[in-house]
Amino acid sequence: MYEKIQASELLSPLLEGLDTEEIISMLEYPSDRKLGDIALPCFKLSRTLKKPPVMIAKSLCEAINASEKNETFEKIEDVNGYLNFYISKEALARNLVKMSEDEKYGSSDVGRGKTIVIDYSAPNIAKPFHIGHLRSTVIGQAIKNIYRFCGYECIGVNHLGDWGTQFGKLIVAYKKWGSKEAIEQKGIKALTEIYVKFHEEAEKDEKLEDEAREAFSRMEKGDEECISLWKWFVEISIAEFKKVYNLIGAQFESWNGESFYFDKTDAVVEALKAKNMLVLDNGAYIVPLDEYGMPPCLILKSDGSTIYATRDIAAAFYRKKTYDFDKCIYVTSAGQSLHFAQFFKVIELMGEEWAKNLVHVPFGTVSIDGAKLATRTGNVVLLEDLFKEATDKTLAIINEKNPGLENKEEVASAVGVGAIIFHDLSNNRIKDINFVWDEVLNFDGNTGPYVQYTYARCEGILDKAGKYDKKILALTDDAEYNIIKTLELFPEKINQARCELEPSVISRYLLDVCQEFNRFYHDCPVLKADGDKVRNARLAIVEATGSVLKRGLELIGLKTPKNI
Ligand code: ARG
Repeated sequence: MYEKIQASELLSPLLEGLDTEEIISMLEYPSDRKLGDIALPCFKLSRTLKKPPVMIAKSLCEAINASEKNETFEKIEDVNGYLNFYISKEALARNLVKMSEDEKYGSSDVGRGKTIVIDYSAPNIAKPFHIGHLRSTVIGQAIKNIYRFCGYECIGVNHLGDWGTQFGKLIVAYKKWGSKEAIEQKGIKALTEIYVKFHEEAEKDEKLEDEAREAFSRMEKGDEECISLWKWFVEISIAEFKKVYNLIGAQFESWNGESFYFDKTDAVVEALKAKNMLVLDNGAYIVPLDEYGMPPCLILKSDGSTIYATRDIAAAFYRKKTYDFDKCIYVTSAGQSLHFAQFFKVIELMGEEWAKNLVHVPFGTVSIDGAKLATRTGNVVLLEDLFKEATDKTLAIINEKNPGLENKEEVASAVGVGAIIFHDLSNNRIKDINFVWDEVLNFDGNTGPYVQYTYARCEGILDKAGKYDKKILALTDDAEYNIIKTLELFPEKINQARCELEPSVISRYLLDVCQEFNRFYHDCPVLKADGDKVRNARLAIVEATGSVLKRGLELIGLKTPKNI
């Protein structure tokens, strides 16, 4: 990025009417280093300047070479309508020092004054927080961190599934077969058991469903007993969810779940009625969407109760009013894409121009060793168990490789949990994920542990080196050049991850950094380098690499132990 900025500063006085940002967006990194470090494809200017690219390149090249402002590039040439910039070793070294010293390296303030609401995680009360929810939490938290790093005000909302007919079932089930002690001891597990039992029994006895409906309707009317049971279920469940959030470092600014919108759905129904958007369909109220190629959006069921979509519409209005968001982002599995498309459309049809700022961020499914996960069939893997397994396996590896390590348990948890998070974020989110333990935890593969380990290696080298002088440096090797160039991409990668709502851009970038760094470390002795200048330069590379890895890992939610 530095180089693009530096090139744009030279170009800007010569290109009137274009601001630096526009110029930067025209600049490219040539795929072949022989063609320079930065290139300006001048055809991008030929429309505005009404000249052929070859001429533009030539005259820009002459003008820059004639001026004395250039302190960055050792050579600038025009080749076939391209203007190619070659950075000098000294300038590259200066950029390296800047990178290693800038505590906010990679961040920006593009989001200053703007607010983003991110709706993520959102597990359902009384149901296990299984690995399917992990993706929403991990992706959502990473997106939030990235936006925040770019200067946005970020409100993370945990839109808990804490309202709906299932609570009627749960109340009935609890009263028939539940035990206070069992639920206090076993938490969600016990709640799920009675919920499953309800469904088994309801197959034999239809009256149960009526009882459940009746219980939920009492709950909606504020019946004390029902409400206090419901509150208790919510409390028990949240306590369990929080254990997982602590492990993976997820934090929310708001815990307003579906129940929060219970008294806010009437206004939605009224507004839809006033706009003549509601159509009666077999006793239920719907908004038809066939014109837009979608099934209708159900707003009120025939018994008058609201549903998931109604509450989501109320929530969107509430968030717009409360936070005046620039964007409201929803992170859920791709299975819910239709739901979001439908209610976004309804809000748009209500005439709200901000409907265009509602964004669904879908992701693919998860399987473990090839087996699909589903709550219904019982193939549920609890997140806690998964993390425990990862931690145990990591501890076993540490005991083998580095038995004397301090805080072994803590490190094993940071690495084990990190491995799962990293794995989750290492491919485009829309791709389905398969967990194969040997791949997730492989310290030498493209994994979280590999990145954390490389970071720890950087810290280890710096510790051994002690103080060094950044003012006198000399770059002498190609491997140095390559790693510095890779580190220079950090701000752009963050921006790309933000624009594409794709944290995997960062995880994959961190793997590139590790690969380039390890190549450098293999080729270039650091502590035993030839002469102080070379040693200083290499230490600065180690330092800059360490801080990029640390910041990058933190952005995607991994911890960064100094020793592994
Ligand atoms: N509780 C839902 C589920 O587990 C996810 C909620 C997502 N957020 C929303 N505003 N609909 O499927």
